[in-house]
Amino acid sequence: MTEYDIAVIAGDGIGPEVTREALKVLDAAAAIYGFRTRRTTYPFGTDHWLQTNEIFPDKAFEETRQKNAIFLGAIGDPRAPVGLIEYGIIAKLRFELDLYVNLRPVRCYDERLCPLKGKGPKEVDMVFVRENTEGAYAGTYGYAHKHLPIEVATQVMVYTRVATERVIRYAFELARTRNKRKKVTMIDKANALRAQDLWTRTFAAVAKDYPDIEADHAYIDAACMWMVKNPEWFDVAVTPNLFGDIITDLGAMIQGGMGIAASGNIHPGRVSLFEPIHGSAPKYAGQNKASPVAAILAAGMMCDYLGQKDAAAAIENTVIDLVRSNRIRGVNTGDHPTDEVGNMVVQELRSNAAKPGAQTGSARPAAPVK
Ligand code: IPM
Ligand code: MG
Repeated sequence: MTEYDIAVIAGDGIGPEVTREALKVLDAAAAIYGFRTRRTTYPFGTDHWLQTNEIFPDKAFEETRQKNAIFLGAIGDPRAPVGLIEYGIIAKLRFELDLYVNLRPVRCYDERLCPLKGKGPKEVDMVFVRENTEGAYAGTYGYAHKHLPIEVATQVMVYTRVATERVIRYAFELARTRNKRKKVTMIDKANALRAQDLWTRTFAAVAKDYPDIEADHAYIDAACMWMVKNPEWFDVAVTPNLFGDIITDLGAMIQGGMGIAASGNIHPGRVSLFEPIHGSAPKYAGQNKASPVAAILAAGMMCDYLGQKDAAAAIENTVIDLVRSNRIRGVNTGDHPTDEVGNMVVQELRSNAAKPGAQTGSARPAAPVK
């Protein structure tokens, strides 16, 4: 039986409880679809740092390289200095494992989840490919005359041809696999941030290799507007790191809320990381109120990445059915107890698989994620 080595970092705040539910679902899917996971759980996060002064020791980090995938709950806690744990864990994994694609599907499963008037599943179905290793996140920042009235702070956005090209190429390849508009929209701000001319030129060059895919462009400010006004215009969107961070929170809202938005941090062919895009929401920690749906969908994306396509499709389709039939009452904090949602997804997966003639999942394809 195929077995996958998975590192689990449940992290801070609501991270552990949503991770617990996602792993329940993963286990149920594994039992149904005939694979196994061997998991190593790491305690890293703010509590661990406060207790031990340790953020992500080298030995543990090196171990993650040997895994097939990493599952992460959420990181961030106001008891730690801003960014310390986030950079020490999430950004370290993204950069040092070179997880160059941050894949963020924005798919609205039911009209009742969509805050946009007259929009629903047909209109809100796109996927963001966020560059995940450089741009404004490259870490090239500094201060001069710190704490003096004349203090100067700078942060340099870094774009390399190699990283820009590989992420754009990924977006075009992804557009080919989607049964949608066959369109890639590049979102940038090259009119003001002139360094992004590198993106403009690279996009034009890569697009030539994909004559079957429409190459489209929007500036980030306009893209925010189109996302609200005409979300149906988007199919695959590719964008630099910071814009991708921001616009995918907007994307999460139009698909139903932070409690439903999942992501993969991917280096094709290598260990990759899956996580809900929401934060740690420390004030709701331990209350069984947070939505585990985003984490469950992230586990589904992980199955897809690992090659367990039927399990991935079944997880997503089960969530879709439960949302559409209102059995999952909502995907925002307080809508539905965390553990009940996880248990319901597990139960539904099992009973669907037990139905006579069940194709164990692949009857309906899930949103393709790669
Ligand atoms: C995200 C988060 C992170 C980011 C933070 C926690 C550093 O907002 O994954 O979107 O900015 O990338
Ligand atoms: Mg973010």
